[in-house]
Amino acid sequence: MEIDSRFLSTGLLLVATIIVAKLISAFIVPKSRKRVPPFVKGWPLVGGLVRFLKGPIFMLREEYPKLGSVFTLKLFHKNITFLIGPEVSAHFFKAPETDLSQQEVYQFNVPTFGPGVVFDVDYSVRQEQFRFFTEALRVNKLKSYVNQMVAEAEDYFSKWGPSGEVDLKYELEHLIILTASRCLLGREVRDKLFDDVSALFHDLDNGMLPISVLFPYLPIPAHKRRDQARKKLAEIFATIISSRKSAGKSEDDMLQCFIDSKYKDGRPTTEAEVTGLLIAALFAGQHTSSITSTWTGAYLLCNNQYLSAVQEEQKQLMEKHGDRVDHDVLAEMDVLYRCIKEALRLHPPLIMLLRSSHSDFSVTTREGKEYDIPKGHIIATSPAFANRLDHIFKDPERYDPDRFSVGREEDKVAGAFSYISFGGGRHGCLGEPFAYLQIKAIWTHLLRNFELELVSPFPEIDWNAMVVGVKGKVMVRYKRKVLSVNQ
Ligand code: HEM
Repeated sequence: MEIDSRFLSTGLLLVATIIVAKLISAFIVPKSRKRVPPFVKGWPLVGGLVRFLKGPIFMLREEYPKLGSVFTLKLFHKNITFLIGPEVSAHFFKAPETDLSQQEVYQFNVPTFGPGVVFDVDYSVRQEQFRFFTEALRVNKLKSYVNQMVAEAEDYFSKWGPSGEVDLKYELEHLIILTASRCLLGREVRDKLFDDVSALFHDLDNGMLPISVLFPYLPIPAHKRRDQARKKLAEIFATIISSRKSAGKSEDDMLQCFIDSKYKDGRPTTEAEVTGLLIAALFAGQHTSSITSTWTGAYLLCNNQYLSAVQEEQKQLMEKHGDRVDHDVLAEMDVLYRCIKEALRLHPPLIMLLRSSHSDFSVTTREGKEYDIPKGHIIATSPAFANRLDHIFKDPERYDPDRFSVGREEDKVAGAFSYISFGGGRHGCLGEPFAYLQIKAIWTHLLRNFELELVSPFPEIDWNAMVVGVKGKVMVRYKRKVLSVNQ
């Protein structure tokens, strides 16, 4: 009996010791021993690069099921840590600039946008410049931009014949350049200098290559043309700005907003800053919007249910407002909004968002795993991958605009960062309302004036582009047919 009780108390002591040791290790050891995220396996150095260049989304598709929502890829001397899904990406979107910054990872934009703007300036100046964007995109400004968008769409499609076949991708790209030119760059460029300025923007565009991300100043012909084009654009805008100022003329465009913008200390923007901010606006908004309007069309033309639903919505609005198409009418288009938003969920043009980390931080995954991410890592998240997570979006590969309707609201199911085509948090897209209005204005015109049929196969994704879009042509057969309320 005595032996038994001694045995029992020794056993209890042992159990108590183990529990205490576990508690100590839970509270103390993790602070000193980091729980680093798992690494993507591959050859050291080049292995990571080879897999990354194959396409980051393909790498994510392979690694996410094996490694989970947080993992690190070694690329040369850099560690890129991926945070995939709303449960782990809040820090990415909400962290202050001192912890996670954009400046280093988006430096490659500097030779395109020019000196003194956006990623070439301190965060405090950049914040003020983003305030200029916010002011230039306020509702009262958007209202006048919409009138210009509608006028541009009417003018553009009036040049189509009674029936025919077109590459919708090409058509929408061109229409959006014209609209952006009018609303952002101003009347002078749209009316007189369009061809010259378009050619210069084309050179700027072609000067932003995947290699430019790593070596933005590499002396290759594309970079030389980019630099010359930016210089010429600066000269053109300097002339326009000074002629507006000397004539005391004011216009309804983003150019005017930037001319009139002032820093907190009262300093007005310089001509070079205005040019740089306009280039940045065009880079942020042009391809992204034209790609999204093409995907929206491709999906509508392949999904009769939704094509009928958007046509029905147009009829109801025509009954209510007649032919009037303005900001407030476009704002009522809920079905069309969801159809665009769903195309953008499946095909966000910015597939990878990046930050540079300046302090250690920890994340907890959905499964309860905790990881410490050391400072110095590049932090990445991916709209293209996260927007198709099946624990957030039901049947995620399906085009289903109703997933955003009242009652389902899958874009909010796991909080603010469930749907991230426009980013979110601290650096969420400032042009989102502009983009929706522009795409809605175009599709409103097409739906009200044409019968359309997709004649080429459903388009594939062009993963090689910097702004990921549609591969090849999107051939559409059209016939003029005015949508009537009584149809
Ligand atoms: C469908 C169209 C568009 C898409 C998908 C899109 C997407 C995005 C995304 C994902 C970000 C966040 C980048 C990051 O977190 O690193 C962003 C930021 C931004 N976008 Fe857009 N964008 C679109 C249209 C526009 C337009 C039309 C404009 C302006 C005219 C614009 C201006 C901006 C600006 C200024 C930022 C930077 C905000 C900041 O860093 O604080 N975007 N956009």
